[in-house]
Amino acid sequence: MERAVVQVTLFGLLLVLASTLPNKDDWNIYSFHINSTVTSRYATTVITSRVANRMDDSKEIEFQVRIPKNAFISKFRMFIDGQVYDGVVKGKEKAQQQYTEAVSLGQSAGLVSSVGRTLEEFKTSVTVAAHKKVTFELTYEELLKRKLGKYELQIHARPMQPVKDFKVDVYINEKAGINFVEVKGGLSTKALANAITRTHADKQAWVYFYPTEDQQKTCDGCGEQGMNGDLVIVYDVNRDTSLGDIKTSTGYFVHHFAPSSLSRIPKNVVFVIDQSGSMSGRKMQQTRIALIHILNDLAEDDHFGLITFDSSIFHWKRELVQANKKNLESAKTFARNIQDRGTTDINAAVLEGARMLNAHPREGSASIIILLTDGDPTSGETNLERIQSNVRRDIADKFPLYCLGFGHDVNFEFLEKMSLQNNGVARRIYEDSDADLQLKGFYDEVATPLLTDVTMIYNGGTNLTQTNFSQYYNGSEIVVAGQITDNDIETFTPQVVAISRDRKVTFSDTNATMEYTGTDFDSHVQRVWAYLTVKQLLEKELLLSGPEKENVKKEALELSLKYSFVTPLTSMVVTKPLGEKTDVLHKPKEGGTTQGHSTGVPLPPPVQHPCV
Ligand SMILES: *[C@@H]1O[C@H](CO)[C@@H](O)[C@H](O)[C@H]1NC(C)=O
Ligand SMILES: *[C@@H]1O[C@H](CO)[C@@H](O)[C@H](O)[C@H]1NC(C)=O
Ligand SMILES: *[C@@H]1O[C@H](CO)[C@@H](O)[C@H](O)[C@H]1NC(C)=O
Ligand SMILES: *[C@@H]1O[C@H](CO)[C@@H](O)[C@H](O)[C@H]1NC(C)=O
Ligand SMILES: *[C@@H]1O[C@H](CO)[C@@H](O)[C@H](O)[C@H]1NC(C)=O
Repeated sequence: MERAVVQVTLFGLLLVLASTLPNKDDWNIYSFHINSTVTSRYATTVITSRVANRMDDSKEIEFQVRIPKNAFISKFRMFIDGQVYDGVVKGKEKAQQQYTEAVSLGQSAGLVSSVGRTLEEFKTSVTVAAHKKVTFELTYEELLKRKLGKYELQIHARPMQPVKDFKVDVYINEKAGINFVEVKGGLSTKALANAITRTHADKQAWVYFYPTEDQQKTCDGCGEQGMNGDLVIVYDVNRDTSLGDIKTSTGYFVHHFAPSSLSRIPKNVVFVIDQSGSMSGRKMQQTRIALIHILNDLAEDDHFGLITFDSSIFHWKRELVQANKKNLESAKTFARNIQDRGTTDINAAVLEGARMLNAHPREGSASIIILLTDGDPTSGETNLERIQSNVRRDIADKFPLYCLGFGHDVNFEFLEKMSLQNNGVARRIYEDSDADLQLKGFYDEVATPLLTDVTMIYNGGTNLTQTNFSQYYNGSEIVVAGQITDNDIETFTPQVVAISRDRKVTFSDTNATMEYTGTDFDSHVQRVWAYLTVKQLLEKELLLSGPEKENVKKEALELSLKYSFVTPLTSMVVTKPLGEKTDVLHKPKEGGTTQGHSTGVPLPPPVQHPCV
C-alpha cells in the first residue's frame, strides 16, 4: 500500500518534470541558412531561420543569434502566415520615448548584448499560432579589416537545435584576385571536414558548410542542442599595383591601399608597463612572458625603451638604446623581474615615455609608444582630462600612442579617447589564459612600419573619410571612401604621398585599376562609404564636446537612419502581430552594459488562426 503511494508520487513527479522540460517536438527549426556575400571586403550576411509550431496551442518562438561586434544590423523581418513584419530603425532617443510607457510596463530583457570578445547576441521572439510557421530574417553588414596579412569573416552557428536543412554559404568576390582562402574556427574540425567545401577561382571563392543532422549532434562542442561554434573564413587578396584597388559607383568611391613591396622602417618603441598592485598574479606573469617574446622579435636596427610604473617610475634605461643582443638580454632580465606593487600614475608614466621618444632622433624611423594598464589613474595626476591634455601636449602628433586595457577594471573609454587623440588605437586585452598571446598579437600588428606620414589625396573627391595616417604597417590596410564631385570620373585623381625611411614617396598610377560597379543605391561602394563615415563620426564624437559634439552626433544619426544601420545612436524596433509586446533593440557600447528592452504593451490577445 505504502509502496504504491510512493510509486504514484514518483510517477506524478516524473510527469511534472516531463511537462516542464522543453519538448523538442514543440517547435521545430526545419531550415537554418546563413548566407554571406563579401564584395571588396564588405560582407553582407543574411541569417534565415524557419520554424514550425507543431503544437495544438499557440507558442512563443524565440530567435537568438550571434553576430560580430564590428557589424551593423541593417534589416530584420519576420514572415508569419503570409504577413511580413519589417523591423524599423529609429533614432535611439525617439524609439525610447515612443516606447517609454511600454518599457516601464514590461520587464527589461537584454536583446542585443555583448558575448565574449567579438560577438553580440540578437534575441527576439514572437507568438506563433498552432501548426503555423514563422521565418526570421536578419541582415548585418561589416567591412572586414586586414590584420597580419589577412581578412577574417567570423560566422557563428548556433541554431539551438539540430536542423535538417542547415547551410552556411559564403561567396567572396574580389576583383584584385584572391591569394588564399582557409577555413578555421571551432567548427572546422576533423569530424566536420567532409561537411565543408571550399572552391577557389581567380577572383571568386566559395565556402559551403552543410553538416548533416547527425554531425550537428556529434561534433566538438555540439550536443542535443545542435551546433554551437564558429566558422572563420580567412583570406587575402593579391596586391600588384602600388596605388591599390579603387572602386567606384555612381558618385562614390572606395580605395584600398596596402602596398606590399616596401622595405621596413626601423622603429623606436617605448613600452610603458603598469606594475601596480592590481596587476598581481597571472596578469603580471603573462605580461612578463609577452614582453620577453616581443623583445626577442625586435630587429637589430630598432631602438627601444622600457619603463614600468606604479606610483613611481622605474627605468630599465633612461634613454632609448639599440636592440642589440647585449641590450636585449639585459632588458629581458629586467622584464623577468617586474613585480607588482603600489598604485597607478598613468600621467607621469606616459609623459616619461614621450620624453624618451622626444629625446631620441626620429629621422628615418617610426616612433611608437605602447601603454599597458589594467586600471584607472590613482596617484599623481588623476584628473582624466588633465592627463589627456598633458599627453597630447607632449606627444604633439609626432608619434602614435597605443593603449592596451588589460581586464575589465580599466576605464576603456578614457584609454580609447587618449589613443584617438594621439593617432593611435586602444585595444582590450581579455583576462584569460591567452592574454600573453593577445599582447604579442597586438605588437605584431605594429611591429613592421612601412610608411610614415601617409596622406591620401583625392582631387575631385569630397566628403572623404579619414585621409591622414601617421603610420602604415605591414599586414594592415588603409581604406578611404568618399564621394566623387559631380560624379566626374575624368577629373577624379587619387594619389598617395608618404615617407619611406627618409625618402618622400608618391603613389599615383595613371592607369590604376579603377573599377565601375554600377548605379545602385544599394551598391556596396556607397554602403562602405556610409559604414566608414558613421564609424569615424562615432569616434570623433567621443573627442568633442558642446555644440560640435551635437553636430557630429546629428550627422552620424542621419546617416545611420538613411542606411538603416543599428549603431549606438539608433534602435531597431521589431514590429509584431497585433497584441504582442514590442521589442526595441540597441547596440551595446564596447565594455558597456546591456541596454535592450522588451516592452509589455497591453494589447488585445493575438488573433488565432484556424488550423489548416
Ligand atoms: C545568397 O545571397 C546572395 C545575394 O543576396 C544571393 O544572390 C544568393 O542567391 C544567396 N544564396 C543562397 C544560397 O541563398
Ligand atoms: C610583410 O609581410 C609579408 C608576409 O605577410 C612578408 O612576406 C614580407 O616580407 C613582409 N615585409 C617586410 C618588409 O617585413
Ligand atoms: C557632402 O558634402 C557637401 C559639401 O561638400 C555637403 O553639402 C553634403 O551635405 C555632403 N553630403 C553628405 C551626405 O554628407
Ligand atoms: C593631412 O596632412 C596634410 C599634409 O601632411 C595636411 O596639410 C592636412 O592639413 C592634413 N589634414 C588633416 C585633416 O589633418
Ligand atoms: C599602365 O598600363 C600599361 C599597360 O598595361 C603598363 O605598361 C604600364 O606600366 C602601366 N603604368 C603604370 C604606372 O602602372
